[in-house]
Amino acid sequence: MASDATAAAPRITPAELSARKGGTPIVCLTAYTYPIARLLDPHVDLLLVGDSVAMVLHGHKTTLGATMEMMILHGQAVMRGTRRACVVLDMPAGSYENSPAAALASARRLIDETGCDAVKLEGGVDVAEQIAAITGAGIAVMGHIGLQPQSVEKDGGYKIKGGTDAAIATLLADAKAVERAGAFSMVIEGTMEPVAAEITRRAAIPTIGIGASAACDGQILVVDDAIGLTVDRVPKFVKEYASLRDMVAKAAVCYAEEVRARAFPGPEHVFQPKGTKES
Ligand code: KIV
Repeated sequence: MASDATAAAPRITPAELSARKGGTPIVCLTAYTYPIARLLDPHVDLLLVGDSVAMVLHGHKTTLGATMEMMILHGQAVMRGTRRACVVLDMPAGSYENSPAAALASARRLIDETGCDAVKLEGGVDVAEQIAAITGAGIAVMGHIGLQPQSVEKDGGYKIKGGTDAAIATLLADAKAVERAGAFSMVIEGTMEPVAAEITRRAAIPTIGIGASAACDGQILVVDDAIGLTVDRVPKFVKEYASLRDMVAKAAVCYAEEVRARAFPGPEHVFQPKGTKES
């Protein structure tokens, strides 16, 4: 029998999150590893194994470095570290755009090989058929509209969306298409605040903001940004809730000093044969 309440609590489902539209904001973070998943699981509603893993953990310049194999490996680690949070896996670039059949095959593989609860893919009107094919097969999908990091090369950089009437119309159409295709929620990234708020007002499914609006039905951040572990530029929309960068550097300095001074390991860290004084 499980010894604490969290151990016995069932996993949060995509349907439960969908039903929280307009309710208590949905708390989401990315996670890529077993220890981080274990630490976050009791505190969040949803963990996204984002394709940002390619940049954050593997040092790629963009998320285009993510592969199916990479997503599966990190997805399995996060699943091992969670009992409660709904776990969503990003579909990497190239795994779904070509056809609804290809999208469904990739989604099935991600679900079958990790046991995750849902998949996420980027796009709106352009991927509505892909989303419909996946949801039609009974797999939950999270949409992702606004700034789409997988399109960064096509877009010529990370450009905030919704600055013109035409761009606003595109965003509203994308949101509607994602909802109609059966997604249980959608991420809105890097979008003018009033536009994200308006999409949230109009959508029947929860919106999860990142660089979007406090009016969204939930928020998500890349975990390394949120805990201050990101070593490269941190975007404007990030709030750092800790500074692990400084803690890691301080620990490394202290460790290096003690090793060089032969102060580590101390007597309490070594093994002596039985019968000797320190054993
Ligand atoms: O890959 C990712 O981390 C994401 C979030 C930023 C939403 O898609």
